[in-house]
Amino acid sequence: MKGILDVENRAASPDQLGGLQRDILDFKKQRNAIILAHNYQLGEIQDVADYVGDSLGLSYQASKTGADVIVFCGVHFMAETAKIINPAKKVVMPDIHAGCSLSDSCDPADLRRYLSERPNTYVVAYINCSAEVKSLSNVICTSGNAVKVVEGAPRDREILFVPDENLGQWVMEKTGRPMKLWKGFCHAHVLFTHESIMRVRRENPSAPVVAHPECVKSVRMLADHICSTEGMVKFTRENEAGSFIIVTEEGMLHRLRKEVPHKKFIPGPTNHCPCNRCEFMKMNTLEKLHACLRDLQPEVDVPEEIRRRALQPIERMLSIGR
Ligand code: 13P
Repeated sequence: MKGILDVENRAASPDQLGGLQRDILDFKKQRNAIILAHNYQLGEIQDVADYVGDSLGLSYQASKTGADVIVFCGVHFMAETAKIINPAKKVVMPDIHAGCSLSDSCDPADLRRYLSERPNTYVVAYINCSAEVKSLSNVICTSGNAVKVVEGAPRDREILFVPDENLGQWVMEKTGRPMKLWKGFCHAHVLFTHESIMRVRRENPSAPVVAHPECVKSVRMLADHICSTEGMVKFTRENEAGSFIIVTEEGMLHRLRKEVPHKKFIPGPTNHCPCNRCEFMKMNTLEKLHACLRDLQPEVDVPEEIRRRALQPIERMLSIGR
């Protein structure tokens, strides 16, 4: 568990920061706040965060913080998860409209209908879903522990994996467990294609391809290693290669270049662009983070009945670990 639970203050020293960033750190102290940032956030946001990580690492940080305020720099379902775990704390995010295509692809009413027709279903929900979908699920997983979570699912139940079909397929390949798959996808990761990754691989023949499991199968089959964003830091640090092709959202490259500085990171291209950007993640800006810490809003809230039911599958996931 070490490494997941240690808060690493990766904030740059004050003399490396701009005025807005220094104000943010001052506000943070005054408010007794913690800034949690996903690996896809802008570099200038990552540089003032107390912890930068993947969805699982961020959930652990949210579960153990003593701060009064959690400032979540990520997308809405991530901040919502922090609120579910911490009902007494104020959870704010720079832009409350930073959504997620995967989360939007699973309507709770559709899931409720599915479950009423198939009552023996065991729902494994990828954390990229709404609080209401979580409240209808048996266990939550992230890309960092999906294989372990599915391996532990009861053998006498039919598993439904929501909402990412690509991650679900990859987990089925790894575990050999049959699952029904919801038809959702990450609008950014599906932009990587077999052709675009073949091209960058040909141009960089000695660089291992490291891909996120939200990629489609024809891309995953080109990867030397498939893992969560946190797994990418570990893999590239430990692997002997000097350069890597990183097939995920471009924000990841900031963290990799900062923490594995002696190696080279090449962004995975799409058919139309040399890298891949999630516009929802990038709705959070330094200016909005500044305003959010100053005003302590916009605040994330979850209806108590949904929160209570969503907490159980999240706690089940946290007890399983990475
Ligand atoms: P992880 O950082 O947990 O790998 O997830 C990436 C992602 O796509 C979040 O939406």
